Amino acid sequence: MDQSRRMVLGAMGGLALGSTLAGAGVAFGKENPPAAAADAKQQRFSQLGGDFSWQYQKLDPAESAMVAYDGYWHKGYGCGYGVFYGVVGMLAEKFGAPYNTFPFSIFEMFKGGMADWGTICGALAGGAAAIFAFFPRKQANPMVSELFRWYEKTAFPIFDPKEAANPKGFKGALPTSISNSVLCHVSVSRWAYVTKLGANSKERSERCGRITADVCIKTIEILNAKLDAGMDWKGALSKQESVVQCGACHGKGKMTDTLKGNMGCDACHSGSEAVLDKFHDHPKM
Ligand code: HEC
Ligand code: HEC
Repeated sequence: MDQSRRMVLGAMGGLALGSTLAGAGVAFGKENPPAAAADAKQQRFSQLGGDFSWQYQKLDPAESAMVAYDGYWHKGYGCGYGVFYGVVGMLAEKFGAPYNTFPFSIFEMFKGGMADWGTICGALAGGAAAIFAFFPRKQANPMVSELFRWYEKTAFPIFDPKEAANPKGFKGALPTSISNSVLCHVSVSRWAYVTKLGANSKERSERCGRITADVCIKTIEILNAKLDAGMDWKGALSKQESVVQCGACHGKGKMTDTLKGNMGCDACHSGSEAVLDKFHDHPKM
């Protein structure tokens, strides 16, 4: 079945389901067994077309990279917008509905690590959102982990728009740094510190535009590989050394259960001068 037909049928399925549920709601009023009442409560969450009904289609990472870079500069919408548009926006350009119904500008919120808070790198947030546009968490989480682990250990930026550099940015080669962290704050601050270029410089803006392209390329590579391998897809990158090492005692069912997350631990708990020594009274490891 071709894609557009599947979409139309998917959407019709959702409509039919919706009307059945509306009818069922009236019936529950009479008998109201507890289980059915609980089900009825969940019915508001049924969405048009069903959950995760959008299908991913293979994209060309090189083509999307330049679009993601341009998207970063478009009205200053930034990294998360650029990456997400480089995936779902390109599907919208190529296939139309339902992808073109997405309000892309919503992902301006990812800029600057969420409304300039420097939390998660917005490019990664855009990539994760693009993965979750098509896959539920059991399949999506490992793909997001692959993207995030790759980001922690990669010297950015890689992409270079050369002559096509945005006039608001910077033309030419840029110095790189490895963030060891998925956080905008750590990634940008470390780069600005290592390169002696300001965190508010043109070069830094350009750097993040190029990282937008880099993260878009990687996201598409992961999605394309997933499309080929299906349920057999596995990431190439194993758990970070620090997460394995520290996770031996920190975690559910371990010596101590006070830890949340999968970020590499060393960016913040390294005992380096910049983050202070958290280990003064720590058990011997
Ligand atoms: C040999 C087991 C073990 C390993 C390995 C381990 N921890 Fe701990 N850690 C503990 C225990 C036990 C505590 C005390 C927990 C409590 O008080 O509930 C602790 C406490 C901490 C604390 C609280 C502050 C402090 O200094 O007491 C931090 C932060 C911490 N660990 C980080 C880490 C990091 C980061 C790693 C990896 C580099 C790590 N731990 C590896 C067992 C371990
Ligand atoms: C982005 C920085 C960052 C990363 C990455 C990070 N932590 Fe933390 N962690 C913190 C901060 C900040 C606290 C709160 C410290 C406090 O209580 O003042 C904390 C708290 C903790 C605590 C509770 C004890 C305490 O001092 O509050 C443990 C245990 C811990 N972290 C272990 C880890 C381990 C293990 C990893 C890697 C899997 C990790 N952290 C990754 C910054 C980080």
